[in-house]
Amino acid sequence: MNLTDPHLTNEDQNLDQTLRPRTFRDYLGQEKIKESLKILIEAAKKRSEPIEHLLLSGASGLGKTTLAHIIAYETRVGLKATSGPAIERVGDLGSILTNLSDGDILFVDEAHRLNKLIEEVLYPAMEDFKLDIVIGKGPSARTLELPLPRFTLIAATTRPGLLSAPLRSRFGLSFRLDFYELPDMEKIIQRSSQILKIETEPEAIKIIARCCRFTPRVANRLLKRVRDFAQVKGDGHISPELAKSALSMLEVDELGLEPIDRQILKIIIEKFDGGPVGLQALAAATSEEEDTLTDVYEPYLMQLGFLTRTPRGRLASRQAWEHLGIKYPESYQKKLI
Ligand SMILES: Nc1ncnc2c1ncn2[C@@H]1O[C@H](COP(=O)(O)OP(=O)(O)OP(=O)(O)O)[C@@H](O)[C@H]1O
Ligand SMILES: [Mg+2]
Repeated sequence: MNLTDPHLTNEDQNLDQTLRPRTFRDYLGQEKIKESLKILIEAAKKRSEPIEHLLLSGASGLGKTTLAHIIAYETRVGLKATSGPAIERVGDLGSILTNLSDGDILFVDEAHRLNKLIEEVLYPAMEDFKLDIVIGKGPSARTLELPLPRFTLIAATTRPGLLSAPLRSRFGLSFRLDFYELPDMEKIIQRSSQILKIETEPEAIKIIARCCRFTPRVANRLLKRVRDFAQVKGDGHISPELAKSALSMLEVDELGLEPIDRQILKIIIEKFDGGPVGLQALAAATSEEEDTLTDVYEPYLMQLGFLTRTPRGRLASRQAWEHLGIKYPESYQKKLI
């Protein structure tokens, strides 16, 4: 596994339990989203109604699942969690929905992977809180309408573009989580350090924060690795020097790039002349899956401004050349226009 891969791994699970914020107060950053949600929750409370169905989108590890749990906590309602691929049959969804209580939140992770048949059943459930069940087959088939509790659906997805339009239109509100700002990443590492009782110097926090791909899950994972290093090589205290040597041993550079990220950029630059190169060709040249490239590596490289997606393919920017220490040919300016 790559250390800076934002997807959840087994190693993260325990850590997630300890470090996951439970309330808005502990959920650092994403201020605009928090503000909107607080208003939404307040208003719904005043009307004594459940909150509207919400869609949370954003790259992996940014805090979608965490946010769904916080909303449940702050509204004092129950939450039942499932995911798109876990709901295989209409009956699965039926039993989940009928077991909810009034006001409960149904959290559906990876909503873009819901199958179409399930989506069809979800529409009337979301709109009118009813479940249409077909009993029997052929001419004698009847539809039975089952009333459902007034639940709130919170769906999370890393790929909002893959969500079907009818499903998307049924959410009252949609929030897009963005990568975090650097000061927020520092606060998150500071908070995690405190919870894990690690002495981390402010300057060391800054160094680690810059390598975390602006992603809290990566921050917690890196902090834990640096702590391990500190306990083995020193007395557990994380100084700036120690943070630097730990990260360099982990082969994470000062921008949080790992060898594979640099390799991808290098291939675009050296094999494809800086691009544009099509996704398929890039996948073949790097021996990575296309989905892995688009979901894991590219979002951060684009965030850094190292990579752009153009209709003709992926293009490495001047900064990417410079970061790798390869001279950027001035004649390339023309290519970008
Ligand atoms: N705003 C935040 N403040 C502090 N810690 C956070 C914040 N957001 C996320 N985290 C930490 O990052 C971890 C990952 O967050 P979470 O599991 O909610 O991400 P996700 O968006 O659901 O990712 P995925 O798409 O992979 O499911 C959490 O366990 C939590 O410890
Ligand atoms: Mg999640």
